[in-house]
Amino acid sequence: MRKNIVAGNWKMNNDLSKTEALLADLANQTKTSNAEVIVAPTFTNLYQAYKVLKSTDIHVAAQNMHYAENGAYTGEISASMLKSVGAEIVILGHSERREYFNETDALLAKKVDAALANDMTVIFCFGEELADRKSGNEETVVENQIKNALFHLEASAFNKIVLAYEPVWAIGTGETASPEQAQDMHAFIRKTLANKYGAEVADSVSILYGGSVKPANAQEIFSKPDVDGGLIGGASLKAEDFFAIVNAF
Ligand code: G3P
Repeated sequence: MRKNIVAGNWKMNNDLSKTEALLADLANQTKTSNAEVIVAPTFTNLYQAYKVLKSTDIHVAAQNMHYAENGAYTGEISASMLKSVGAEIVILGHSERREYFNETDALLAKKVDAALANDMTVIFCFGEELADRKSGNEETVVENQIKNALFHLEASAFNKIVLAYEPVWAIGTGETASPEQAQDMHAFIRKTLANKYGAEVADSVSILYGGSVKPANAQEIFSKPDVDGGLIGGASLKAEDFFAIVNAF
């Protein structure tokens, strides 16, 4: 069901003590918008985050997971293990996972299936590289990422899918996509969904923008008709900045 969402991807940041300090700050923030708030700490801090935040309306997400239920996958974490520590949501397909850990569309399709089979909500990330945009191929790249990992799903699966468009050239660079660039791509994504599943499904999916969202630019980006919120990296590591973005609707 389409809603405003602001999710904080902490990436590989914060040991337990820094996590506890940030969680306490987050729990003390006041939400003045209708946005659903999600934070994604590292695996080692998920349970602590769940325990602290379960008395708030802030949800906890994992930053990744394996597609297998269990087995000889040293260092990996399964969906059921994530749910056992309170994570009902998982980020999949982040560009850093694609780049540094060679996650392919086919692998991500298996991860999406495993998350949905465990009744988790998936925040599915995708986005073009700078070279794709410079050559005018951004829509083809994004369309293929979505089709290859998601278009095997039944329409009903999209009740548990949140899309996150993150142009790689905007992640961590301070080079935020313009509100118009974000809107154009989000509208294209929604049209791509509508062509496959129909307008009702396309209009029911939340599409987040990620890539250097800050308190200063969030309101203009979120004001666009096909932008339903943001997936926030650096600005999610300070509670005040993160909630300035949460309240930017
Ligand atoms: O997943 C969100 C992240 O990739 C965006 O990072 O630091 O540009 O907000 P940042």
